[in-house]
Amino acid sequence: MEITVRSGDSLSEASDLAMLATFEGEPLPDKVAGLLEPNDYRGRAKQTLLLYPRGAVAPRRLLLVGLGKREAVSAESIRLAAALAVQEARKMQIASVTVGVQRDTPVLPALMAQALAEGLEMGAYRYWKYRTGLTTEQTFEVRAATVFTSEGSEDQVRRGVALGQITGRGVTFARDLVNSPGYALTPAKLADEAVALGKRAGLQVTVLNKAQLTEQGFGGVLAVGKGSANDPRFIVMEYGRAAEGKPTICLVGKGLTFDSGGLSLKPPEAMDTMKSDMGGSAAVFGAMQAIAELALPLHVVVLVSAAENMPSSTAYRPGDVVTTLSGKTIEVLNTDAEGRIILSDALFYAQRYKPAAIVELSTLTGAIIIALGPHATGMMSTDQALADQISRAGEASGERVWQLPLWDEYHEMVKSEIADLKNLSGRPAGSITAGAFLTAFVGDFPFVHLDIAGTAWVDKPAKPYQSHGGTGAGVRLLVEFLTGLTSAKRA
Ligand code: BES
Ligand code: ZN
Ligand code: ZN
Repeated sequence: MEITVRSGDSLSEASDLAMLATFEGEPLPDKVAGLLEPNDYRGRAKQTLLLYPRGAVAPRRLLLVGLGKREAVSAESIRLAAALAVQEARKMQIASVTVGVQRDTPVLPALMAQALAEGLEMGAYRYWKYRTGLTTEQTFEVRAATVFTSEGSEDQVRRGVALGQITGRGVTFARDLVNSPGYALTPAKLADEAVALGKRAGLQVTVLNKAQLTEQGFGGVLAVGKGSANDPRFIVMEYGRAAEGKPTICLVGKGLTFDSGGLSLKPPEAMDTMKSDMGGSAAVFGAMQAIAELALPLHVVVLVSAAENMPSSTAYRPGDVVTTLSGKTIEVLNTDAEGRIILSDALFYAQRYKPAAIVELSTLTGAIIIALGPHATGMMSTDQALADQISRAGEASGERVWQLPLWDEYHEMVKSEIADLKNLSGRPAGSITAGAFLTAFVGDFPFVHLDIAGTAWVDKPAKPYQSHGGTGAGVRLLVEFLTGLTSAKRA
């Protein structure tokens, strides 16, 4: 989408549709107030009202969107309003929208602009690659938006819009990957996506195939991938270089392109969304695309273990013992707890970069859906300062995380009788034991595990900036975290 920033007032400029976001219980501009009956619209959060001003103000149509009470307004309220505007515009087949927020917003201009751009980009997204017979009404796309701002803040607003658009495009890229069917996005194809991203963003990409994984001892990735005709891959993507004063951050993603459960087969109702089990890798790819476009002064290494978990005569079995890249052994009790097995190799590999932080994202456990639902990503960490940074990035980006503990007792729960670790320890504390398992492979490097099983996918969108399927969970959070590292350094 083409987003233009102009100084001025959206109500005085001619347009086909202007969205005005307003505060609950506060007077509207006189010309607008004169258009409605007092009780029809109060500016409650997510309330909308479409008006035809007939010359009372310059726009031909005016969409009022409520932000709720001023003191509760955040970037998230504005993101939602922008997404509502783009969806209304699409319904009415209006190619260009104008967006604005009532004066004296508590959210700073740059942040407001970022949220508007994110809402527009995400709200315009649909995945209709496989739909045929769509009407022109359905395929209509909103191509352009204009953000009006007060004189003097144009530069900040322009920077905010750019950051929001880049972040939004990272999100929609991640959604495209998650929404791709399992047969269309095999481990090899996921690696091709990484190579293509590397070309367009100027990143160094290395892909290890099955022979190389075997030679180098990636026992975890190989074991999980054994049952599938679609061979596993290991993907390394590097942005920037290690240098004095430039922290190295490793972003690790689970790239299970399809998780049938393997021999511990999932029931059909739990399997039908399992093309999304590469949501962690989609998030780190989307974030990488964004940070390259933003040219952040960081050294970022993306590591993705990619495999397909299938039942077959060549599949790994319950009772097998897997020797991972680290040399540590894992007793397999349930082949459906495969994420922690492939991640063990990627996390151990991360140690060679001596990273300042390892941030890992995975659709790891159904238990996190039970704990937090779709409203937060589960977080576990070995480093409280890092966890606090991620928490703050979660609040700021509108992608909340909630921390769970990693006490010694949980580490005890994943010890095996016959190997170093076991990949299953029953239903109690299902998400935490998975997190505790992962910490065995990160050495002393600050590590945070983000379980996005509940946030990476929505059947029915709960927010106007979502659509059925992949949400792109983790991209906004990571971009916020990483940009935060660089601005903290500048300050
Ligand atoms: N990919 C699943 C977790 C998942 C479940 C993601 C639902 C998204 C939605 C993971 O590989 C898995 O199957 N985990 C098992 C672990 C169990 C066997 C210890 C689970 O959560 O049931
Ligand atoms: Zn599984
Ligand atoms: Zn899985």
